[in-house]
Order: sequence, then structure tokens, then C-alpha cells
Amino acid sequence: MLNFANKTIDETRQGEAYAGELATDATPGKRFYIESYGCQMNFSDSEIIASILHTEGFGPTRNVEDADLIFLNTCSIREKAEQTVRKRLTEFKKIKKQKPSLLIGVLGCMAERLKSKLLEEEKLVDIVVGPDAYRSLPQLIDEADSGTKAVNVLLSREETYADISPVRLNSNGINAFVSIMRGCNNMCAFCVVPFTRGRERSRDDASIVAECKDLFEQGYKEVTLLGQNVDSYYWVDPKTNHPVDFAMLLEKVAQISPSLRIRFSTSHPKDITDKVLHTMKAHANICKYIHLPVQSGSTRILQLMNRTYTREWYMAKVKRIKEIMPDCAISADIITGFCTETEQDHEDTLDIMRQSEYEYSYMFAYSERPGTLAAKRYTDDVPEEVKKRRLDEIVKLQNSLSLETNKKDIGKVFEVLIEGNSKKSDQQWMGRNSQNKVMVFDKIENSLLESGSFVHVMAESCTQGTLIGKIVNLS
Ligand code: SAH
Ligand code: SF4
Ligand code: F3S
Repeated sequence: MLNFANKTIDETRQGEAYAGELATDATPGKRFYIESYGCQMNFSDSEIIASILHTEGFGPTRNVEDADLIFLNTCSIREKAEQTVRKRLTEFKKIKKQKPSLLIGVLGCMAERLKSKLLEEEKLVDIVVGPDAYRSLPQLIDEADSGTKAVNVLLSREETYADISPVRLNSNGINAFVSIMRGCNNMCAFCVVPFTRGRERSRDDASIVAECKDLFEQGYKEVTLLGQNVDSYYWVDPKTNHPVDFAMLLEKVAQISPSLRIRFSTSHPKDITDKVLHTMKAHANICKYIHLPVQSGSTRILQLMNRTYTREWYMAKVKRIKEIMPDCAISADIITGFCTETEQDHEDTLDIMRQSEYEYSYMFAYSERPGTLAAKRYTDDVPEEVKKRRLDEIVKLQNSLSLETNKKDIGKVFEVLIEGNSKKSDQQWMGRNSQNKVMVFDKIENSLLESGSFVHVMAESCTQGTLIGKIVNLS
């Protein structure tokens, strides 16, 4: 997960309505409205869906009222995420009652998890499509138009949508997300993703590099390579038989241009290699930031979670990252209140957070998901109020760690990519440094700076979520 300020996320990202750059509300033909939930990969999928629909002559709209088709690209990661979607569906169903020709489609992970059950549970839903079946959307829309409920939730071992050029939706023209693989072969006991997204498969490197190059040529300044476990990226060129691993892919993307920034997410602690770390170090344009989810600081809990590393292994990884790149920021995902978690396990989590000195964390209370290993094997036995109290403690600790790491940055100069005006004032810019920290600083009158410019900024003060600074010289 990326791009969040320093805050707890006990819910997945709220729905965001999309409209693309290819078409405006004046586009003739049928219009679709799409709202996305969950992780960045889901948001990225919505751009592929928009592309498929666009090719078929559908235009995007930002207004539900103007839509002939409403799509919800859904997330199943925690129960709350599904509840949010169900609530939204109830609202859409009211619109459908007024306008019976309207089609409502549920896409993404919830579609995959619940399959045709969703049609029984959510009457008035017309289309259910899982993450590997988006190519069949036009055909399913036809079926639904003629009154048949349309479902395709087949998972694939090959589908990567490599040949589909995503329609960048709601883009600022500066940062773009590029999927490099799909699915996940890990079986973390708490996680629904392997069931909703299927087996892991990597996309061919040439199509990834071509997409990044194209983005750069269009003026984009930053690409984020996305996968549930990017360090296990592996592609063998069928013609040459040459294998490409994640470090090699990073290198290829970094070589497109020194002025294209590269980020990636997510790294599994068991898979990130020294080779990746050295590649990051060797290229100034690969951002010095690693999202390295720990989940728990207790080896016993990590084993129950099937994370396949111990506390000591994780700490050794953190040490290695800092040895190779002392300026590298690290963030984590943390789950509190997993089955059988004791006060001591919780203390171990607080302790590993202190030792790792995370710049940010994304913190969640454990939510049992039907069908997962944990749901089958263990009892969800930590009471809700205990989960909540532990989560509060974790959040408080992270807030103080974030403030501490930000304080250490005061007096340092960073290269910042300007993303737009700061939230508070149009007299100030907002951007992020290589470490993914948000920096806010005054604009300079009559300068040529604009969104998308790189600039050097000295941090002068901070809050726990932001470094406040001033421009020291233009890049
Ligand atoms: N592939 C990524 C993360 C995918 S989901 C990885 O392996 O790190 C994002 C985060 O949601 C996970 O890292 C985990 O912290 C959290 N999460 C996943 N399943 C959860 C559950 N059942 N309850 C609470 N949090 C969960
Ligand atoms: Fe889920 Fe684990 Fe795969 Fe991440 S690595 S998506 S947490 S199973
Ligand atoms: Fe949610 Fe599916 Fe992503 S469950 S977190 S949208 S892979």
C-alpha cells in the first residue's frame, strides 16, 4: 500500500469514482461509472477495465446519474471492506429502481470470493466478474442487457493483461502505477488474496518496460511497480530463454531515464534480496523506500500466520537494508489481535516497531476471512476490545516513531517531486522525497516550477506526517 500519510488504516481505501482522460461526459454512446476499493492493484485493474470498455465504445462518467453501467471494483481483505461495498450497493440499487435499464456490476475480489452467491444475496446485481475475467466484460454486458445474469469468475494461470494499455483514470499526469505481476503464491494464514487473485504470474518484462517508457514520454515523472510480492517477479523470455528477476527488471526500468523515478510495492521480507538492495543503491532514481510488512513481532505468531520468517530474520533484513542504504526509509503493515496473540506477543510487536524505526505503518485489527487457513485452523479468540486497545497502542507508538524519524530529517536537503499545491494553501507546494515522505514548502514567485518539477528542499520543521521546508536550489 502506498501514498498514504502516516495514519492507521483499519479500513481499505474508500471508494473513488473515476473518469478517464480519453473521454469526457460529452462522449456519445453508453457510459460507465466505476468506483474502486482496496489496494493499488485494484485501482490499477480499474484502468485496465476502463481500457477494455473504451475499446468497445463505452465512455466513462463521473456522475452515477448519467451512467448506463455502474461498476464497483471491490475488496475482501477485511470484513469492513465488504460491508462498505454492500452499503454502496444498496444505494445503487435505489437508482436502479428508478432506471431499470441500468446495469450494476460487481468486479474484483469480492466478486471472486462470493461468485454467483453474490447474485442471490444482492438481488439487482446483474454482472459479477473476477479479477482474471475482465476481457469477457463486453460479452457479459451484452448478456446482462438481454436479461441474463452474467458471471465470470474463472481464475487464470496466465492472464496478465500485458497487451492492454491502461486508461489512466483520475491521473495527475505525474505518478502512474504499473502492474508487473498478478496473484500470490504465499499462503499467509489470515489472507484472502490467494483465493481472490489466484496463482502468482509475472508479466513479460518487455511490455512492462515499454509501458514505463511510454509513460515517461507522455510526461509522467514517477512509476510504481506493483505486485503482491514484487521480489518474486520472474519472467523467462520464451525466445532467448533468459530469465529476468526483480532486480534485473528494476534496473531495466531505471535505465529508461535518470529523471524517471521508480517505486515498487510490496516486498515480502522472505524474498527481498541483496541483489535488489544493491540495484536500488546503484540507481539514484530508484526511490530509497521499502514497504516491508512485518505483520507481528512475535516468532510464534509469525509461524501461525505462515509468514515463513522469524523475528530475528526480519530484524536481520532491516539491518541489511540500513547497511547497504543508510538513507532508506522502511514502512510496515501490522496486524494486531491475530488468533492466540498474548500480551507478550503484543509487546514483541511494539518492540520490533521500535527497533525497526518505521517511517510509517499501516495498522489493522485482525479480521477473520472465510476460507483462509486461519479461519479453518484457529479460533479468532482475541476479544474485540483487546484488539482495539492493542491497535491504539500500536498507532500511538507509530505516531511517535514517525515524529522522531521526521525530526532527524530537519536540516537535511532532499530532492522532491512536486505533485501539486499543499492541502492548506495554494501559496505552497506539496511533493514527496525519495523516502516517500510528504514535504510542504513555499512557492517562489515568478519561478518556472510546476507540478512535476524536481526541486531541492531543506527540511526546517515537521509534524508526524509532514516535513515542512524551503526550496534551496532548483534541480
Ligand atoms: N501482499 C502484501 C499485502 C496484501 S494485503 C503483503 O504481503 O504484504 C495488505 C495488508 O492487509 C497485509 O499486509 C496485512 O497487514 C493486512 N491484512 C491482510 N489480511 C488481513 C486480515 N484478515 N485482517 C486484518 N488485516 C489483514
Ligand atoms: Fe496475502 Fe501474504 Fe500474499 Fe501478501 S504475501 S497477498 S499477505 S498471502
Ligand atoms: Fe483487497 Fe483484493 Fe487488493 S482483497 S487488498 S483488492 S488484492
